[in-house]
Amino acid sequence: MSGWLAIAGLGPGAEALVTPEVSASLAEATDVVGYIPYVARVAERPGLTLHASDNRVEVDRARHALQMAAEGRRVVVVSSGDPGVFAMAAAVFEALEAGAPEWRDLDIRVLPGITAMLAAAARAGAPLGHDFCAINLSDNLKPWALIEKRLRLAAEADFAMAFYNPRSRARPEGFARALELLRDVCGDDRPVIFARAVSTPGEKLTVVPLTKARPEMADMRTVVLVGSSLTRVLRAGDRPLVYTPRSAPE
Ligand SMILES: C[S@@+](CC[C@H](N)C(=O)[O-])C[C@H]1O[C@@H](n2cnc3c(N)ncnc32)[C@H](O)[C@@H]1O
Repeated sequence: MSGWLAIAGLGPGAEALVTPEVSASLAEATDVVGYIPYVARVAERPGLTLHASDNRVEVDRARHALQMAAEGRRVVVVSSGDPGVFAMAAAVFEALEAGAPEWRDLDIRVLPGITAMLAAAARAGAPLGHDFCAINLSDNLKPWALIEKRLRLAAEADFAMAFYNPRSRARPEGFARALELLRDVCGDDRPVIFARAVSTPGEKLTVVPLTKARPEMADMRTVVLVGSSLTRVLRAGDRPLVYTPRSAPE
């Protein structure tokens, strides 16, 4: 088989944040597969076929990509950010596990990208400088009770936290409940960063204490970072710099 499959992260938005490894795989590809807005970020060229599909068909898309690679095509499955973070890499391996045995002989590579959480943290300073965790607040693929349990335990363990998919029009109430839970456990002053559309022309960064955090400050283009009890906000001119010290006291 001469085909291969790369599962690549396009980073948070800016061209400068696409890794050279990902650009090289796209330059060699015959086919690019992915969710419509991510495929739209790939430049058309002769010899390249773009296969854009809706977000709800992840495993079908993964099967299609594996099938094309098995037929000898050079296929890149694209995700935003990093493909292993709430994205297509796991979906491809799910399809591989359930799929044709010969697919396991394929050349399959995961090419990392800059995930939204890290791009946002860099804009804000270093809020993830000590231990942290990432939680997807969407209850499309897991029950809300599990999200709430993880949130509470992460807050009690005093992690800094990053929330992906914080709030959508289809489920506006979940993030409001998450903020209430955090106020219960963390108190009012914990720094919260709303980082929207990082590294795109629509980028907006807002830093507020937990008591001033409102559900409508987030949408599906926002990643939300919440500090630990040690996270500090420095003022540098008119810019807030948020950082979590490297050490925690005994
Ligand atoms: C399905 S997840 C995909 C995450 C992606 N694989 C990554 O590593 O960044 C989509 C969520 O990522 C976050 N996100 C993606 N790009 C972003 C950006 N440029 N700025 C802020 N948040 C972003 C938002 O929370 C969005 O709801």
